[in-house]
Amino acid sequence: MPKYIPEPFRIKMVEPIQLISKAEREKALKQAGYNVFGLRSDEVYIDLMTDSGTGAMSQEQWAAMMIGDEAYAGARSFYRLKAVIDEIFGFKHFVPVHQGRAAENILTAVALKPGQFVPSNMHFDTTEGNIRARGGIPANLINQTAYDPQVMMDFKGDMDVDALRAFIEEKGKENIPFGMITITNNAGGGQPVSMANLKAVSKIYRHYEIPFFIDACRYAENAYFIKLREPGYADKTPLQIAQEIFKLADGATMSAKKDGLVNMGGFLALNDDEWFERVRAELILREGFPTYGGLSGRDLDAQAVGLKEALEEDYLAYRLGQAEYLAARLRGFGIPIIEPPGAHAVYIDAAGMLPHLSREQLPGQALSTALYVEGGIRGVEIGAVAFGHKENGKWQYPALELVRLAIPRRVYTQSHLDYVAEVLGEIKAKASNMKGMRMTYAPELLRHFTAKFEVLN
Ligand code: F0G
Repeated sequence: MPKYIPEPFRIKMVEPIQLISKAEREKALKQAGYNVFGLRSDEVYIDLMTDSGTGAMSQEQWAAMMIGDEAYAGARSFYRLKAVIDEIFGFKHFVPVHQGRAAENILTAVALKPGQFVPSNMHFDTTEGNIRARGGIPANLINQTAYDPQVMMDFKGDMDVDALRAFIEEKGKENIPFGMITITNNAGGGQPVSMANLKAVSKIYRHYEIPFFIDACRYAENAYFIKLREPGYADKTPLQIAQEIFKLADGATMSAKKDGLVNMGGFLALNDDEWFERVRAELILREGFPTYGGLSGRDLDAQAVGLKEALEEDYLAYRLGQAEYLAARLRGFGIPIIEPPGAHAVYIDAAGMLPHLSREQLPGQALSTALYVEGGIRGVEIGAVAFGHKENGKWQYPALELVRLAIPRRVYTQSHLDYVAEVLGEIKAKASNMKGMRMTYAPELLRHFTAKFEVLN
């Protein structure tokens, strides 16, 4: 058998992409203030900015959209989605929402009081933002090895269970309205969490009677890593593994823009009747009636099909294979990445690739702009620009300086990935000549989206 699995689909509808000239790319980047978030999508050739909402739907999903029921209340589409969510996730209640952060908003509105804590392995930035927006305090209790890009581990997303126990004892369980875990851990390199860790974390939360919520965006990819890597799971299907995962929890927040294989969608699921009453009230206020959330009936149907397709083994083998393929090609050029790669992205260690630049010279930003100028490729900086902040007048930088190449689902082929790797190989060959960057404008909040930069001479 070949080492890398070919795409388990053939292409029936195409979306043209084009590479504009290098001079045009330089001009476009300058106009965008040297920030790839400011580019228009038709100025980009291969767009690896995110895997969220950027996937391709299947023929079955498009067909399902045609039978969408747009009734305001009690739509057939809702009941079709409910049947699938009940089967995979098995919580007593759920409400559709327009995307993951809407589920986070409603959960924090219902459950969190100012000054309370929410532990996780690592919160994604919207989760962290929603907790802070309600006056809460997010805590990241991942194993410390997660911060070493070169350490090879099967489940680098695992939470530090001793740290969790100590955290609950220190803060008091009455000050922790719910606890979380993110599968896979996007903020830490897309790393999976093991079933053993999920069980241990669940046991602790249950011991202290703290409701346990899973951020389930990439639940299918995490289930497949468990199948491949954890003893005792080789003969189980991804669906059976997912069912086992969610039995351990009391609820889940979901952005279906990832493993729901839709361009927009999500849900909040939970067991508690009293919380559900309040979730419904909040949903009606902000998203819509409980049988459609913020979505059209046809979107609910596309999601019902997508949630199941994401668990198909040939799809998952191809999906994990794509990330591994890109990682292997980058290693071949001596490009340092977070090891081992997850399923949805490959994270380049920009500080390791451009060691002649200091953190102040923003190596991640320099690499993300070089990737665009050299190849029309768009990735995102996840480093000093995205997470740096001033403390007592001094800049504090996050542990890692990364550029994330996220892979949209079922969109790019292996030859697109070859192109990306080869452009990066060329950048690596002349990396020592690369110039640093300086931020010339930054807004107060979430600054990486709209900041502007200049090249240092
Ligand atoms: N949780 C995780 C782990 C995520 O990766 C995301 C989104 C969300 C929650 C929020 O979901 O965007 O539907 O509101 N991640 C995207 C990304 C944006 O590019 O990684 P959303």
